[in-house]
Amino acid sequence: MPHRQFNAFYPGKLTGRLIHQPLVRKYARFAVPTTDQVCSGVTSSDMATHKVTVNGFKTFEVEDGAKLAYAIEQAGYDISHRCGGNARCTTCRVKFDTDEPPMFDKERDCLEEDGVLGQFRLSCQVRVHSDMAVTVLMPVHECEWDNPGIDLEP
Ligand code: FES
Repeated sequence: MPHRQFNAFYPGKLTGRLIHQPLVRKYARFAVPTTDQVCSGVTSSDMATHKVTVNGFKTFEVEDGAKLAYAIEQAGYDISHRCGGNARCTTCRVKFDTDEPPMFDKERDCLEEDGVLGQFRLSCQVRVHSDMAVTVLMPVHECEWDNPGIDLEP
C-alpha cells in the first residue's frame, strides 16, 4: 500500500514521492547508512581489512586506515611509543618486509633530522591501506624501560 506524505504548508496537496513499501524493503540493502549507524560501528563489518604480519609474532586483520603502531599494540605486541605517536622519539620504528607505504612530511622531517632516513619507518606515522609485513625494531621487552610510553591515539 503506497504511503503519501501530507504537506502542512499546502493543505490538500500531496508532496514527496509515493513510497512503495515492497520496493523499499527490496532495496533496503542499498540504503546509505546514517551517521549514527556509521559512528556506532553498525557497518564496520563492511569495511575493508588488511593483513598485518609482525615478524616473529603473528598475522592479524586490521581495518583500512588504522594507525600501524596502534594496530600492532592492539594485537598484543609490546611495540614502544615513547612520544605517544608524535614523530619525535623514533622508538616505534619498524622495518618493512613488504613494499613500504608512502611517507608523509612529518615522518620524513623526523627521520631526516635524526639522520636515519631510509633505515626504518615510524609505525606511528603509517596508516594501513594494504597487506603488509614488518619487523618491530624496538619492542619494550628488548629495551630498558618498563612501559611502552605515552598512550597512542587510534
Ligand atoms: S615517533 Fe614516537 S611513537 Fe612514533
